[in-house]
This record gives sequence, structure tokens and C-alpha cells, in this order.
Amino acid sequence: MYKNKFVMIAVGLLLAFALHAEIVIGEASKKCYDCHKKETPEVVRQWSMSKHAQEGVGCLNCHDPKIYKKTIISDRCQSSTPVSAIVTPAACSNCHEKEVMEYEHTKHANTLHFVVNILKDPWLVKGANSTPERATGCFMCHGSIIKDKLTWYNYPNNGVGRINPDGTRGTCTSCHNKHIFSVKEAKAPTTCGYCHLGPDHPQVEIWEESIHGKMYMAGYTKDAPTCATCHTSEVKDPKTGEVVLEATHDVGQRMWLELKPPKSTIWKDPVTWKPMDETVRKQHRENMKKVCLQCHTERHVEDYFTRIEKQVEDYNKNYFAPAKKMLVTLRKKKLLTPRPFDEEFEWDFWLLWHHEGRRMRMGASMMGPDYAWWHGAHEVKMRFMKLKRDYDHLIKLGHPDPHKYIPGATYSCGGTNLVPGVDVPDLRKK
Ligand code: HEC
Ligand code: HEC
Ligand code: HEC
Ligand code: HEC
Ligand code: HEC
Ligand code: HEC
Ligand code: HEC
Ligand code: HEC
Repeated sequence: MYKNKFVMIAVGLLLAFALHAEIVIGEASKKCYDCHKKETPEVVRQWSMSKHAQEGVGCLNCHDPKIYKKTIISDRCQSSTPVSAIVTPAACSNCHEKEVMEYEHTKHANTLHFVVNILKDPWLVKGANSTPERATGCFMCHGSIIKDKLTWYNYPNNGVGRINPDGTRGTCTSCHNKHIFSVKEAKAPTTCGYCHLGPDHPQVEIWEESIHGKMYMAGYTKDAPTCATCHTSEVKDPKTGEVVLEATHDVGQRMWLELKPPKSTIWKDPVTWKPMDETVRKQHRENMKKVCLQCHTERHVEDYFTRIEKQVEDYNKNYFAPAKKMLVTLRKKKLLTPRPFDEEFEWDFWLLWHHEGRRMRMGASMMGPDYAWWHGAHEVKMRFMKLKRDYDHLIKLGHPDPHKYIPGATYSCGGTNLVPGVDVPDLRKK
């Protein structure tokens, strides 16, 4: 009996889908569908699973070159009409304008702008790493630069701030993979954890070790918050059920601190990179508080937020400030060369803020005691002692003590560096 039922459901579904696909997607997209069902069956299968297929959003709604101000026409596809090989947020904005507009204003979308133009990152701008290292590492998370053609260096790429030929930034596939385009995938912590992990920003590991992560993994998925619950999802008043914050693609809206820079400050604007004024800071902090108040009480949340702020102050004042003072003194006395990462002191200074110091701040902000202390503050102390030893050594030596050769840097093995304002448009000069 079960078997019969199953067959009937399966036939019903097949019929429904066949009719559906034929009726709803346009004639032109139907041509793509028919050939691609043979040529790339997996792509078509995944599209068929999507809400898009159900709603009649066909291949050309995203791959029609006419959508884009500028694009790259595929030289591989056998279609008789031109096909855009890449798909940018410009296509999505025709139907999801709100999401695209929110996204444009984030550090996600603008990451290359400030990494290259504002921070003048030593790896990318001063050549401390090589082109394959960038293509396989930095660009996969932050995004590549696609101008006129697709190369091994820039494609495939799902980085949050990918620069597209039409001038748009980002690719929605960072969290909603093609061609399923699912919300379920985007809400899973492992999706954010593709980028938000590792020694320098271990958000997913911190979440896993938090009571929230533990409860979630014990099966209480509705009772414990995930990344999306706190950073993007809709927030309701627990008493009235009224929506007090809408779901958003602006992951900055609930942030009030910068935990990642060498010295923590209040939250900075994603384009100008200036610290926000007091009203915005308060508003963002209030936003995050509303998230927690869905499950916790006022005292619980306020005291926890103060605890985060105290940890940040502790790091800034007791570790970062004296370490920075040593660095400035060494530079003033010309005991360090101008080239980045050719001296041990520079590596240790980097590790102090970029690895251990971040872990100390991030562990505290997301309820992970092991990261706040063992991988964080405790390691910061050890690193500080090493910096002090290196410092004393250099002062005694009286001249710089660089490594002679740095492997895998553009200045030792060729390749070009990114030029601020040229490779990445400077958004401050609009
Ligand atoms: C007659 C068969 C045929 C038709 C019709 C066709 N394609 Fe293709 N398409 C292909 C083949 C073959 C490839 C290459 C597959 C490979 O390299 O593995 C391809 C590749 C692609 C790619 C990848 C592009 C790249 O450069 O990497 C996209 C996107 C694509 N097709 C979209 C479309 C769309 C949209 C349509 C409808 C306008 C369409 N195709 C119609 C056969 C077809
Ligand atoms: C909602 C938008 C959307 C729709 C609808 C869509 N695609 Fe795509 N497609 C994408 C995106 C995004 C990419 C990745 C391109 C990029 O990175 O810029 C892609 C890539 C592809 C590729 C290359 C995949 C690979 O892994 O090599 C093929 C082939 C393709 N699409 C075919 C199709 C076909 C055929 C259809 C219709 C059945 C279709 N697409 C419908 C968004 C879409
Ligand atoms: C022609 C209109 C159209 C285009 C273009 C389009 N979408 Fe959609 N999209 C829809 C419709 C309609 C739905 C279903 C609406 C709903 O579920 O409320 C949908 C649903 C979605 C969902 C929710 C799926 C779920 O699991 O509930 C996501 C995510 C999404 N689209 C992402 C994208 C992205 C990313 C792009 C661009 C690459 C894009 N869409 C392009 C019309 C479009
Ligand atoms: C695994 C993904 C991943 C890789 C690989 C990666 N990053 Fe990042 N990077 C991130 C994430 C995630 C953040 C933000 C962390 C946060 O907000 O706490 C970040 C932050 C940064 C920042 C700080 C920006 C700011 O707002 O202060 C810079 C600069 C940076 N990365 C440059 C690079 C460079 C250069 C490379 C390659 C040498 C690289 N990243 C490799 C994911 C990655
Ligand atoms: C950093 C990850 C991330 C990126 C990148 C991203 N999204 Fe989403 N998206 C999400 C999450 C998380 C949700 C579910 C939000 C929630 O909890 O309600 C979502 C939900 C959606 C929905 C469903 C909205 C609804 O009302 O249910 C659409 C449509 C969508 N995204 C479109 C896009 C488009 C278009 C882009 C590119 C501009 C994009 N997303 C980029 C994470 C992302
Ligand atoms: C493809 C990589 C990638 C994915 C996936 C990703 N992020 Fe990010 N995220 C980044 C990078 C890179 C930055 C840092 C940008 C910078 O400051 O340079 C960042 C920054 C952030 C910030 C800080 C924003 C601010 O204004 O300070 C938050 C919060 C965040 N991400 C949350 C999320 C959430 C939640 C998800 C999953 C729904 C997610 N991210 C998925 C790469 C990613
Ligand atoms: C219980 C709520 C909560 C959960 C769950 C949560 N976060 Fe956070 N997150 C916070 C708070 C609070 C902060 C600190 C606010 C600030 O920095 O302004 C923060 C900070 C961040 C930052 C900013 C770091 C920086 O450099 O300034 C990123 C990125 C981030 N979270 C990503 C994630 C990701 C990815 C996940 C899931 C793996 C996650 N968060 C889970 C509440 C949460
Ligand atoms: C979806 C509900 C939910 C949200 C939202 C939420 N939490 Fe929790 N949280 C829990 C549950 C359940 C526990 C474990 C049982 C308990 O303590 O109530 C917990 C535990 C904690 C703990 C461990 C200490 C303790 O009381 O057991 C801290 C700290 C905490 N949460 C802070 C926060 C902060 C800060 C936010 C907002 C940034 C937040 N939570 C958001 C559900 C939530």
C-alpha cells in the first residue's frame, strides 16, 4: 500500500513539475532548460528544487546579458543567443530590491574598498603574499575583482565583496548557493562559518562552545539563537509578539563595537570608515539588546553587554597600548625596516592583535569562555612577553634584524600588488 502511495505521489509530483516548468518559465529559458538538462543535469536539478523554479524564475532572469550595464558573455555556452556567464546582485534587485539595497551598505559588500583603499592591507597592497595565495585565500572570502574576463585568479568566486564588471559589489551566493538559493542554507551557522572561523575570527567555534551552540546541537534549535537570529533575523517582543526589528541583510545594524582592528573603537561606517556618532552607537546597541530580550531579562543582558565592554577596554589599555608604544619606539629609532613582515617583532605584533587579541574580544562578545580566556587573554599575555623580549633585544642590538628572504611574497617571487583606488574603486570619492 505504501509502495502504491509513493508511486502515485511521485507521478503526481513529476506531472506537476513538468507542467509547471513548461507553463511558467518563458520560451527562451525553456531552450536553456532543455539543453542544460542534458549538458549540466545537476545544475538543472538544483534549480528545479528552488523556490525560483516554483515561481517561474527562469534561467534568463539571471543570465540575460541585457540585465547588466556591463558583463562577460560566455564563450563556452552553445546557446544561439548570448548568455551572461556571471550573475550579480543587479539581477536579484529586479525582484529583491530591499535585500540588495540593505546588502550594499554593509562591510560585507564594501570589504575590498576598505581593506585595499583605507587599510592598505600589507598582504594585498604591499605584496607580502603571492597571487595563488590570494586567489585561494583572501579572495574566496572577501571577494575577487572581475573586470573584463574570467581567469583562474578571479573565478569561480563567492566572496562577500566581489567586484563585478557592472560595478556592483558582492555575490548573493556567499550565503545562498546557486541554484538552490535557499533561506534554510543561509540560516545555518556553518554557512557563516565558511568565512567566520579560524585563529583570527573564530565566530563559529565560539558559537559552538557557547551555551547557545550547545543547546542548538542538543536539538533545541528553536530555543537557542544562531548567527542569523542575533545578526539578521526578525525580532519580536516576547510579550506581545509584535515585530520590533525587521529581518535585515545589513549585518552592521546591531553592531556597536569594532572588535577586529588592532585597537577596538566604536562601530565604524562601512564606507567612510569613521566611528559612528553616539546616537547611532546607542541605537545599534539597543537593537542587539532587543534580540537578547526575546529570551533573557533586562539585568542579564545589560550586565553581559557591560562585561563585553570591560574586556575590550582591558585589551586596549593593558595590552594593545603598551605593545603599540614599543612598535612606535622601534620605528622612531629605525630599529625596524619599512618592509612589512620581514622581522619577528612585526609578526608577533600582528599575532597579538590579529589573532590572540581578537579572540580575547570576540570570545567575550559571543559567550565563549574558552576563547575569551585560554585562546584569548591567556595567549595575549604570552605574546606580550615575547614582544618585550624582542624589543629589548633590538634596543641592545642597535640596528634592524630582518630575515633575509621572505618566501611567497610578490617582491621575492613576482606578481603584482593591488593599487588602491585603481583596482578597487574608492567609494569615498563618489
Ligand atoms: C544547445 C545547448 C545549450 C543551450 C541551448 C544553452 N546552453 Fe548553456 N551551455 C551549454 C554547454 C555545452 C555549456 C558548457 C558546459 C561545460 O563547459 O561543461 C554551457 C555553459 C553555460 C554556462 C556557463 C558559462 C561559462 O562560461 O562558464 C551558463 C551560465 C549557461 N550555459 C547558461 C545558459 C542559458 C541561460 C541558456 C539559455 C539562454 C543556455 N545556457 C542555453 C549548452 C547550452
Ligand atoms: C536566481 C538566479 C539564477 C537563475 C534563475 C539561474 N542561474 Fe545559473 N547561475 C546563477 C549564478 C549566481 C551563477 C554563478 C555565476 C557567478 O558566480 O557570477 C550561475 C551559474 C550557472 C552555471 C555555471 C555553473 C558551474 O558551477 O559551473 C550554469 C551552467 C548555469 N548557471 C545555468 C543555468 C541554467 C540552465 C538555468 C535555468 C535552468 C539557470 N542557470 C538559472 C544564477 C542563476
Ligand atoms: C524574476 C524575479 C526574481 C529574480 C530575478 C530573483 N528572484 Fe529570488 N525569488 C523570487 C520569487 C518570486 C521568490 C519566492 C518568493 C517567496 O518565497 O516569498 C524568490 C525567493 C528567493 C529566496 C528565498 C528562498 C527560500 O528558501 O525561501 C532567495 C534566497 C532568493 N530568492 C534569492 C535570489 C537571489 C540571490 C537572486 C539573484 C541571484 C534572485 N533571488 C533573483 C523572484 C526572483
Ligand atoms: C576564511 C575566510 C577569510 C580569509 C581566507 C581571509 N579573510 Fe580577511 N576576514 C574574514 C572575515 C570573516 C573577517 C571579519 C571578521 C570580523 O568581522 O570579526 C575578515 C577581516 C579582515 C580584515 C579586517 C577588516 C576590518 O574591517 O578591519 C582585513 C584587512 C582582512 N580580513 C584582510 C584579509 C587578507 C588580506 C586576506 C588574505 C591574506 C584575508 N583577509 C583572508 C575572512 C577571511
Ligand atoms: C551573509 C549571508 C547572506 C548573503 C551574502 C545574502 N543573504 Fe539573503 N539571507 C540571509 C539570511 C540569514 C536570510 C534569512 C533571514 C532571516 O532570518 O529571516 C536571508 C534571506 C533572504 C531572502 C528571503 C527573505 C524572506 O523574506 O524570507 C531573500 C529573498 C534573500 N535573502 C536575498 C538575498 C539577495 C538578493 C542577496 C544578495 C544581495 C542575499 N540575499 C545575500 C543571508 C544572506
Ligand atoms: C564568504 C564569506 C562570508 C560569509 C559566508 C559570511 N561573512 Fe560575515 N563577514 C565576512 C567578511 C570578509 C567580513 C568583514 C568585512 C570587513 O570588515 O572587512 C564580515 C563581517 C561580518 C560582520 C561585521 C559587520 C560589521 O558591520 O561590523 C557580521 C556581523 C557578519 N559578518 C555576520 C555574518 C553572518 C551572520 C553570516 C551568515 C549568515 C556571515 N557573516 C557570512 C565574510 C563572510
Ligand atoms: C547570542 C547572539 C549572538 C550569536 C548567536 C552570534 N553573535 Fe556575533 N555578535 C554578537 C554580539 C553581541 C557581538 C558584539 C557586538 C559588537 O561587536 O558590536 C557580536 C559580534 C560579531 C562580529 C563582529 C566582530 C568584529 O570584528 O567587530 C561578527 C563578525 C559576528 N558576531 C559574527 C557571528 C557569526 C558568524 C555567528 C555564528 C557563528 C555569530 N556571530 C553568532 C551576538 C551574537
Ligand atoms: C532564542 C532565545 C535566546 C536568545 C535570542 C539569546 N539567548 Fe542567551 N541563552 C538562551 C538559552 C535558552 C540559554 C541557556 C538557558 C538559560 O540560561 O536561560 C542561554 C544562555 C545564555 C548565557 C549563559 C549564561 C546563562 O544565563 O546561562 C549567556 C551569557 C547568554 N545566553 C547571553 C545572551 C545574550 C547577550 C544574548 C543577545 C546578544 C542572548 N543570550 C540571546 C537563549 C537565548
